[in-house]
Amino acid sequence: MEDSGEVRLRVDVLSLFPRMMDSFVAESMLARAICRGLLGFSSRSIREWATDKHATTDDRPFGGGAGMVLKPEPICRAIDELRRENSRVIYLCPDGMPLRADLVKQLAQERHLILLCGHYEGIDERVRERSVDLEISIGDYILTNGVLAAAVLLDAVVRHVPGVLGAEQSLLQDSFNGNLLTYPQYTRPEVFEGRRVPEILLNGDHKKIDDWRKQQQIERTRRRREDLFGKYENERENSKGIGGLHQGGAAEQF
Ligand SMILES: C[S@@+](CC[C@H](N)C(=O)[O-])C[C@H]1O[C@@H](n2cnc3c(N)ncnc32)[C@H](O)[C@@H]1O
Repeated sequence: MEDSGEVRLRVDVLSLFPRMMDSFVAESMLARAICRGLLGFSSRSIREWATDKHATTDDRPFGGGAGMVLKPEPICRAIDELRRENSRVIYLCPDGMPLRADLVKQLAQERHLILLCGHYEGIDERVRERSVDLEISIGDYILTNGVLAAAVLLDAVVRHVPGVLGAEQSLLQDSFNGNLLTYPQYTRPEVFEGRRVPEILLNGDHKKIDDWRKQQQIERTRRRREDLFGKYENERENSKGIGGLHQGGAAEQF
């Protein structure tokens, strides 16, 4: 799939399975972002940069052991060709830094990401030393190859590229904003199998609705995510301190 127009973010994905990624971006928000020229995208096979007649991209590990390792030469040639002055080369790997909401937001500020996806036992370590800027994991489990991880990263990052979502307000009410999970959502019908929508959402008092939603967020985060709730409380304490200095101790508004 090709892009057109002025792009906010360009993403080139390097893998052994370029069609996997192509099919992922052919639907929904990513497809729209490409069509509207906000996202520039290509999915390329590392084999394009192999030079022997079998287009070899992997070999046995030095020192023995199971599986194969992706060779350095084709990957480094690919990166050297695609890299520009403002590029960030990211290797998706289980031993990278965890992908979290704050990192996602930072990546959405970049202009060009090259997402490198491994396969088999991974890539030759020298590629990581020579050509990779950031190593990112999408969780503590092992995937067969990095394409799914790149798809997860791309999907999460593109939501934060200005203009992509349309209703940017929805980013603010998403989980992880301000270290809180989201609040419960309801739509019609008002009663479903005997379960009523909470009365407060029906009365049109937006101040009360906002307060109720905030309380729901706090309670849900406290029950489900002790780690996040701890951060939320810390920040609340700190901002009270700052508020005390700058606003004469004004209490935080919920
Ligand atoms: C089978 S894995 C290799 C795992 C490697 N032997 C290890 O233990 O770290 C093959 C490729 O899948 C990708 N991958 C697997 N799990 C991942 C994860 N949790 N996050 C990001 N990428 C992952 C990486 O690109 C990796 O090179």
